[in-house]
Amino acid sequence: MSGSALQDLFGIDEPIVLGPFGGLSSVALTVEVSELGGLGSYGLYGYAPERIRETIAQLREATDRPFAVNLWLPTGDEVAPGDVDLGPATAALAPLYEAAGVEPPAPPHAFLPAVRDQLAAALESGPAVLSLVYGVPQPWLVEAARARGIRLIGTATSVAEARALDAAGVDAIVATGAEAAGHRVSFLRRAEDSLVGTFALVPQVVDAVGVPVIAAGGIADRRGVAAAFALGASGVQVGTAFLRTRESAATEAHRAAIQAARDTGTVLTRAMSGRLARGIPNTAMRTIETAGVIAPFPAQNWLTGAFRAPAARAGNGELLSLWAGQAAGLASRETAAEVFAELRAGLRA
Ligand SMILES: Cc1cc2nc3c(=O)[nH]c(=O)nc-3n(C[C@H](O)[C@H](O)[C@H](O)COP(=O)(O)O)c2cc1C
Repeated sequence: MSGSALQDLFGIDEPIVLGPFGGLSSVALTVEVSELGGLGSYGLYGYAPERIRETIAQLREATDRPFAVNLWLPTGDEVAPGDVDLGPATAALAPLYEAAGVEPPAPPHAFLPAVRDQLAAALESGPAVLSLVYGVPQPWLVEAARARGIRLIGTATSVAEARALDAAGVDAIVATGAEAAGHRVSFLRRAEDSLVGTFALVPQVVDAVGVPVIAAGGIADRRGVAAAFALGASGVQVGTAFLRTRESAATEAHRAAIQAARDTGTVLTRAMSGRLARGIPNTAMRTIETAGVIAPFPAQNWLTGAFRAPAARAGNGELLSLWAGQAAGLASRETAAEVFAELRAGLRA
């Protein structure tokens, strides 16, 4: 794949992608990375269709450059209210509700908006790129995106997932190693059985697929970018280093936790959402792990959201999901422009 594969595909100047942050993306950061010549991404996880349309309109108003929006596909194992007895998991969270000064939430009508409606809203708004996690887009989605000139990115944690995405017709594949921040977006095998590191994953995915591969996980400076390209990647997707910057929507407490984290400072846990994700341990994670009762996704995410939201407003990092990757110790830059310049230097290396 030529060095300009991603630039041509997405209409960008540099093959540097800002990772989407479901629940924590900001218009400011997404726009900044796109304006710098990369591909800013915005995570739409959990957004209702109306909010998706509004957000894409805001992004479009703020920049003429291409940007990506990101959605989670259904894997089929999501529970609905009424499917599970939330009593035990709610009881395990009692100390955290108390610490946040809130009551346990009453069960909602639905935990999440219908994905089909989210996809329809995103397609209708016509972003340059739609990136997807947790699965393979169905043929109708690939056709609908193609008909509107929207490029599709799929996300793989294994070679088999990358092959499935390639066969489905995505335009590019993010190969995300186990170092990465946030959820392990595996969809063919259990996330625990798909923990391949970026260094091993990227070249094997490059060998297996015909589309450009974007390396993600553990890349935070010029050395990581140069390594990704040496492994055959056509681009990089960077999360933690950008989340640490002042343009991100992360709370000051979250930023400070990333800044303080060293190489061993993150762990994989199902505690916060019911799905495996990488973050920095805090009171919430430890309390739930110790209790040992975790509702399935997305019920657990919804249950913990009831204390995470007020904690975010209060700036209490002990009650948040402190998602971060293993390269947090390299995430020292204050602004998106500084991170971008550092990453870009790796392209010239
Ligand atoms: C707070 C947070 C939320 C994230 N949410 C999403 C998401 O909704 N969709 C997605 O594709 N990736 C998501 N990610 C992963 C990032 O987009 C990116 O791929 C990852 O952070 C790259 O690894 P790094 O942090 O080591 O750079 C999230 C990461 C963080 C830190």
